[in-house]
Amino acid sequence: MNTGTTIPGTQGEAAIAPGGRANTAIDLLDQWIRGEFVDLNTKLEEAYFSARSEVLTDRPDLDKLKQAIVREGSRLISQIADEGKPPVSPQERYELLGLVGFYLAACRRHEADLPGGVNAGALSPAWSLAGLLGASLGVAPRYVFAHQSLFNPSVRDTYRTFTALDDERLFITTNGLAVLAYQRAAAALRRIPAMGVSSPLATYLFEDARAALDDVLRFNRTLSETLDVDRFFFNIRPYFKTYRVGDAEYRGANAGDFAAINEIDLLLGVCSARDPFYQHVLAEKYAYVPPEDQSRLRSAVSGGTLLDSFLREATLGPLTPQFRHNAELFLAICRAHGAAYTFHHHKLVKPFLEAPAGTEPQGQARGITASGPPLEAVISGLARLSDLRAARDRSGLSTARASLNRLGNLLAHDGGANGESEQ
Ligand code: HEM
Repeated sequence: MNTGTTIPGTQGEAAIAPGGRANTAIDLLDQWIRGEFVDLNTKLEEAYFSARSEVLTDRPDLDKLKQAIVREGSRLISQIADEGKPPVSPQERYELLGLVGFYLAACRRHEADLPGGVNAGALSPAWSLAGLLGASLGVAPRYVFAHQSLFNPSVRDTYRTFTALDDERLFITTNGLAVLAYQRAAAALRRIPAMGVSSPLATYLFEDARAALDDVLRFNRTLSETLDVDRFFFNIRPYFKTYRVGDAEYRGANAGDFAAINEIDLLLGVCSARDPFYQHVLAEKYAYVPPEDQSRLRSAVSGGTLLDSFLREATLGPLTPQFRHNAELFLAICRAHGAAYTFHHHKLVKPFLEAPAGTEPQGQARGITASGPPLEAVISGLARLSDLRAARDRSGLSTARASLNRLGNLLAHDGGANGESEQ
């Protein structure tokens, strides 16, 4: 997609791409999403925020703004269909899916797409284009977190957002950085099996993975210290809801929809692809990750674990210095992975979602979770993931704790120390 000279906040300007050629219908949609769309959403959000309400209905002044979004988006998306030139490259098609998804997510957020409502006709060109793009790429036909972060070209310092609110930009940037850090850790770890856990080359990769996971914790901490709870709850989270494409509902966007965290889980050996609970986590997110992450998820379930490799090699004789050094780094990585995810659970999920949802009047906490199940069910699933990643055994859940302790004890014993240690 040519994002050319599209300048945020410059509605009504002649749409001319670099080199003076006329813009395509896709460029015109992009220009609108970066300009007037942001202004309309921001006005609506300020009205909701003043009323401390998730959404306001039956307000003629606000209904006009909502209808402006529905109509103009529909017109621009119909032009893309009329032009009949969907992008050829998969990356451009994926990006266009996100662009159409911004529109559909905003319609849902303002409750302008209710089943049987007056706007079904207006939304149908977007449903049709999203369905076509999703089918051609093998992904859910909706916008996901990757469209907001990794597949969202910045132009003049500004990437596409729903609103002009500082908290939205902070949320997307910091989440995106945490995803990049997870991806850096996974990229380092996935190279290690080919060289063996006691390789001097693996030391460099273990160190890189550890630094990257420390960065995840750092970014999560920044988010928890700077994001405003009310702004997140009232004005940002609602754009991540489940929405409809034709007759089907697709679950909401989720900052966890990327493969790297699962590659890390499986490579370290703190989660198992044989565990039905974890299989469900993988299967559920498959359609919501970018196409290249789908192949990473497929490869991740078929490999061995670094933990098993360390334990196997430890049986071959007295521990060697390189093995010992790498094993200590490995245990530090497992601790860093557990710490980052425990932080996610206690300092992001609970204060930014569970606590404010608890103060919503009965019946108004609609569509709180991205995946659809009730909030308590989602929180309990996340708590289980948190315990697996931190290798915290509890009643009904056995984790990698025993194997990690075994490796820790081998290191302690072989160095002359004695006794149990919890790594
Ligand atoms: C205010 C900030 C955040 C909140 C409130 C939050 C909340 C949540 C919730 C509720 C879910 C479950 C979604 C569902 O099934 O409905 C989830 C999943 C997830 N989130 Fe976050 N999150 C936040 C930030 C982050 C950040 C910065 C990351 C780092 C990349 C992240 C990584 C994940 C992952 C990986 C999952 C998928 C489940 C898993 O595999 O662990 N989240 N988050």
